[in-house]
Amino acid sequence: MDELRRQNYLQMMGITQWRLRQVDSHQPAEQAVAEVGTEIEITQQSSVVSDQIHTPDPVVAEDRADWLTLREQVKNCRQCGLRAGCSQTVFGVGNVQADLLVIGEAPGADEDRQGEPFVGRAGQLLNAMLLAMGFKREAVFIANIVKCRPPNNRDPSAEEALACQDYLLRQIALIQPTLILSVGRISAQNLLKTDIAVGKLRGRVHSFGEAQIPLVVTYHPAYLLRSPEQKSKAWQDLQLALSVLGPVNKALGQS
Ligand code: URA
Repeated sequence: MDELRRQNYLQMMGITQWRLRQVDSHQPAEQAVAEVGTEIEITQQSSVVSDQIHTPDPVVAEDRADWLTLREQVKNCRQCGLRAGCSQTVFGVGNVQADLLVIGEAPGADEDRQGEPFVGRAGQLLNAMLLAMGFKREAVFIANIVKCRPPNNRDPSAEEALACQDYLLRQIALIQPTLILSVGRISAQNLLKTDIAVGKLRGRVHSFGEAQIPLVVTYHPAYLLRSPEQKSKAWQDLQLALSVLGPVNKALGQS
């Protein structure tokens, strides 16, 4: 990705005071981020970022059938009370062979209306975050902890998250992502089965499930809209995620 375009994407994220410099691609992303006074200097591993979209391999017929079955089961689900209060289920969207799987919390009003995750203001910021990483939205898969909108946008309860868990686990098993990006407290705490705060979970690579999928936690874009001063930390997290994804160049369509 050229420097001008990255600066534009960072600007879309609301990050204008960051400047990029090239570094040794073996340097861990965390070490590569330095804060200098009010200016935050971001180092970037240029080798892992590309404009190109990953062209998925053909989805095997078996997987396609599994996806269709799963989608139908989610659509007809009544395992918790949320379905009664929402207008439709929000299954998830994107590349079913993505290397990067983003997991949020729950659909909000816009998502409930459109049947797609992250389409409101938080979604626009998420898109900008993905672009700053080198991913178009359609190159990744985006899902939530729960598939139905909780009333008045309240947090989903532990019981509701548990009722929906199997659907998400099956999505993860089908996608087999290289990395999970967990955005926000509800996502991180449910995935990692902890009550530790996001601020303490971010900044390192966790491991998810039996398959030990690398998982990076960052702030929820809705929180970043309310607390833009935290965007620098989110960008550090995205760079950490890129450092894990880096060796898998197919993720970014690199030749
Ligand atoms: N916030 C989320 O966590 N998920 C969405 O789909 C929308 C907003």
